Amino acid sequence: MLNRRAFLRNAAATGAWLGVGMSGPAQAQTEGLRALAMRRNLAYGCATATDQLKDADFASALVREAGLLVAEYEMKRNAVERTRGHYDFAGGDALLNFAKAQGMALRGHTLVWFTSNPDWLPEAVKTSRDETLLTAYVNTMVRHYRGALHSWDVVNEAIDPTAGRSDGLRPCFWLEAFGPSYIDLAFQAARAADPSARLVYNDQGCEGGTEANHKFRAATLSFLEGALKRGVPIDALGLQGHLQAFGPPVDQKKLRVFLENVRALGLRILVTEHDVDDSGGSRDSAVRDQAVADASRRFLDVVFEAGGVDAVLTWGLSDRYLEQAGFLKFAPRRLPLDSALKRKPMWQAMARSLAG
Ligand code: XIL
Repeated sequence: MLNRRAFLRNAAATGAWLGVGMSGPAQAQTEGLRALAMRRNLAYGCATATDQLKDADFASALVREAGLLVAEYEMKRNAVERTRGHYDFAGGDALLNFAKAQGMALRGHTLVWFTSNPDWLPEAVKTSRDETLLTAYVNTMVRHYRGALHSWDVVNEAIDPTAGRSDGLRPCFWLEAFGPSYIDLAFQAARAADPSARLVYNDQGCEGGTEANHKFRAATLSFLEGALKRGVPIDALGLQGHLQAFGPPVDQKKLRVFLENVRALGLRILVTEHDVDDSGGSRDSAVRDQAVADASRRFLDVVFEAGGVDAVLTWGLSDRYLEQAGFLKFAPRRLPLDSALKRKPMWQAMARSLAG
């Protein structure tokens, strides 16, 4: 548990605010996105990693702002089962213990993905075509965290219409070995391991305003309809929410229709990895920050209007832990807090969207 002195020191250092309404600098706000989301009966949270929790100022900001955590990488298979059959739950368990100690929840990410797997896995799947290489891992992970998690991303990024398949699925070693039913297998194994778990299909590509995004939405809807007709136990769609500040804007009308169709299938909605890429535009950070905030709000306003939203997570809380890719001429500013843990226009935009 973080001590009160550290928490208050950080609150002062980050220009803590009091109250709720966004009435500008004169009005201080102590409430974080965590409290604002709870008012809307949903959770706000972010991806993090155990090494970030050692940063006391960051951990204080995390407790103030987030009510839900997700492992950025420590619950991925290349971190958990580096050696076949040997499970390392340390990272996920540490995050779960931190979350519990701070009255937060933790979501699981991710069980079956085409990447972030240990090097031995794809070859083992290709040569043996042994379905237990999928189902035993899902069973072990879901049983280990049984009853303890907010939700699970059971299958991640299985759709890719650009690959040209009639079912819109992404070619990968899972699909080559087991066919499209690998997805069904994953969800059925997760449901069997924890009947109470909230099971999510998670992907990126449904958010944007391009023709490719429109095709992605159509392929996703078709996939979900087919899976639910087959009785696949999917409870929710996870929209990763990776946006572009200076790319084609979100088409709010098309997104709204898509989300209405998803909700009509009886599915809940989560925004699981929201951030806004601020590259490709101005070098002026104030201009970038406002463009990031505008893109975030355009997206979240439509998501919240659709209803049925269980959670919104950003893929990190602060720019402090973002890596500056080699081609970038400036440090990325994709998240609600800057590297000094101060709230940015994106924070304000998310708060306003949450406040409705
Ligand atoms: C990334 C993490 O940020 C990296 O630290 C990790 O090495 C690989 O995965 N979509 C996802 C996330 O579902 O899991 C990815 O996160 C980003 C894209």
